[in-house]
Amino acid sequence: MKAPLIDPFQRAVTYLRVSVTDRCDFRCTYCMSEDMTFLPKRDLLTLEELDEVSTAFVNLGVRKLRITGGEPLVRRGIMTYFKAMARHLESGQLDELTLTTNGSQLHRFAADLAAVGVRRVNISLDTLDEQKFSKITRWGRLPQVLQGIDAAQSAGLRVKINAVALKGFNEDELFSIVEWCASRDMDLTFIEVMPMGDLGNEDRLDQYWPLSDLRGELRQRYTLTELPDNTGGPARYVRLEETGQKVGFITPLTHNFCESCNRVRLTCTGELFMCLGQEDRADLRPALRDPTAPALDDAIRAAIRLKPKGHDFDYSRQEVAGQMTRHMSHTGG
Ligand code: GTP
Ligand code: 5AD
Ligand code: SF4
Repeated sequence: MKAPLIDPFQRAVTYLRVSVTDRCDFRCTYCMSEDMTFLPKRDLLTLEELDEVSTAFVNLGVRKLRITGGEPLVRRGIMTYFKAMARHLESGQLDELTLTTNGSQLHRFAADLAAVGVRRVNISLDTLDEQKFSKITRWGRLPQVLQGIDAAQSAGLRVKINAVALKGFNEDELFSIVEWCASRDMDLTFIEVMPMGDLGNEDRLDQYWPLSDLRGELRQRYTLTELPDNTGGPARYVRLEETGQKVGFITPLTHNFCESCNRVRLTCTGELFMCLGQEDRADLRPALRDPTAPALDDAIRAAIRLKPKGHDFDYSRQEVAGQMTRHMSHTGG
């Protein structure tokens, strides 16, 4: 047994998010600009290198792997990587192998994902209105995503919908989204919009809908019971007693959850980001490609020693603080 990964604040790192591509077939306004430049293919870690780094983390005590992007299912050959990671589920070293997806390709992949041992998927969906969906994702089409959700459920995957709470955009759909999830037996998590990416023509302060307010609205119609459930992610959950469904809240702005942070993020180029909201990073590529570089385990341990205490996102002074120019698609959220 190797010693586990413990950061300077005594937090154990047990959750690795692996962004397998920076590309996406959507252009969500809060995530990307319309004219994104993507990395040249030669800069990407190969599927074998992704396997090598992920496996090193698993051997150092990571128990949950979440595959992200961009859109993870647009990475060529991605099932090869999922199949490779499935061996860690089979050996019992991993508790969970999962992904966060926009759902556009799930009709093609749901059955294969279930077959390799994925049990649930998180699907990003902010609106059930076709026109609004096209507006927020720029390039996305709602029916395709709904088809993907059908495919996931038919394959036996548990589905959680991730909705970014956006003032003036999906406020009026709060109850319809909640009811839709209840009717399909899907979990639902709301996320506060974070100041990531190019805010040139985006006003995050105007879009910001605090989840404390959203909860207040839910309370007008439902009885909310706090749940102790922890999926290993940052969401805190309640049950709506009237429908029995589980609703989660990810609140980087109104309630910082960094004290219990257990995760780091690997980008598709082999950089490890120690926090979503900070610049601290370490390049693991030399450890993979350069025989004279420090060994991978040592490079990972050195990186974990740099994990910062938390992010500094803040809108409370009526201005955006702690902003990251990095796009969310770089680290996979
Ligand atoms: P579960 O396993 O279902 O708990 O999922 P998760 O919340 O760990 O993963 P998911 O990809 O669904 O994450 C949803 C969103 O939460 C991410 O895309 C981010 O926007 C946000 N998020 C996750 N982790 C962090 C974090 O460490 N810091 C901040 N600020 N936001 C995070
Ligand atoms: N703030 C909050 N969530 C975001 N996501 C992307 N950009 C942002 C942002 N600026 C979410 C997506 C998806 C997950 C990967 O990250 O909606 O659910
Ligand atoms: Fe693509 Fe997800 Fe970013 Fe939207 S939020 S552009 S679906 S990576």
